Amino acid sequence: QTVALETIVADKGQHRHYMAKEIHEQPSVIARALGAWISEDRTRIACAAENVDWARAPRLTIVACGTAYYAAHVAKVWMERVARIPVEIEIASEFRYREPPLPDRGVTMVVSQSGETADTLAALRYAQSRGQITLGLVNVTTSTIAREADVILPIHAGPEIGVASTKAFTAMVFCLSALAVLIARKRGEIGLDEEHGYVELLSTVPRLMSETIALEPQFEALAHDIARSSDTLFLGRGLMYPLALEGALKLKEITYIHAEGYAAGEIKHGPIALVDELTPIIALAPFDGLFDKLASNLREVMGRKGRVALIGDAEASRDLAEEVWRRVEMPAVDPLIAPYIYAVAVQFIAYHAAVAKGTDVDQPRNLAKSVTVE
Ligand code: G6P
Repeated sequence: QTVALETIVADKGQHRHYMAKEIHEQPSVIARALGAWISEDRTRIACAAENVDWARAPRLTIVACGTAYYAAHVAKVWMERVARIPVEIEIASEFRYREPPLPDRGVTMVVSQSGETADTLAALRYAQSRGQITLGLVNVTTSTIAREADVILPIHAGPEIGVASTKAFTAMVFCLSALAVLIARKRGEIGLDEEHGYVELLSTVPRLMSETIALEPQFEALAHDIARSSDTLFLGRGLMYPLALEGALKLKEITYIHAEGYAAGEIKHGPIALVDELTPIIALAPFDGLFDKLASNLREVMGRKGRVALIGDAEASRDLAEEVWRRVEMPAVDPLIAPYIYAVAVQFIAYHAAVAKGTDVDQPRNLAKSVTVE
């Protein structure tokens, strides 16, 4: 079995890079995580966090670095909305040195693909020293974080080779969404029927990701235009705000193009000064409850000669298609699961921009897959 796994790892299949392979693997990764995180009768979430006293936990603190931190940011929105639990998210290198007070009966979860990131591990140890129940959401189940956390939650992404995280990000988000549903049940926020409804919703994710992967040529075409720029803005609201941050991080990491992610409602407080005809603005625009607000932010930008690339579903496109610079039409989905397919979109944009620029996609300069020093 070990040999078989190594063979898979060493093999990029028909792909030029591990990152491309790992983007394409995501539907099967999520399907595997789903299988591992639901009950046999496929009606409930089942995982090792079942025994935590969620009903009395005053707060959940989630600590991570890099892409894992953005996964935590998506989780915060999910958990607040679905489980109605207060959630704080923290960058590990800030959290550990700030030494914040943590509430009695509080739960602290660290999120780490490798399970070895030095700051995240130190954050885990700090939380333990303050009497918190600790959870470790990891990909590598033999890692230090997995050994030391009170409860290990595996994301089942399989080995990730590309330094820029892709499938581990969506697998983290997936497991955190599932955990939000479990916490919601434990806190009495949802009944069994609603939980079943969430399980069914999460079960649609692999198919929707496959549909988005089929749009790759359109992301590639857009990426060719992005590759020529030296600055890029990613905008989103609500669940799309952390996706905007993740999109900007991916682009920076592998293309070396300067990119910023912003909450779209915030651009008028400064970043709009950057808008000109040379700076592509990538708008993550599912047709959700915040769409009208986003559309008015985009019109402000376009009124200042901003070139907007609209990544949105048919409804979003209907409203803005005539005005925008570029457009990719996404599948229409329940807004709660939009992060999965918009993650694929920003991954492809970064990947194809990097290929167009000829940078080292899998091993970008100055970056390491796992940062075990402080
Ligand atoms: C490094 C990697 C990032 C990753 C971060 C956290 O900086 O280059 O891709 O997001 O570490 O890694 P972890 O293993 O803790 O998720």
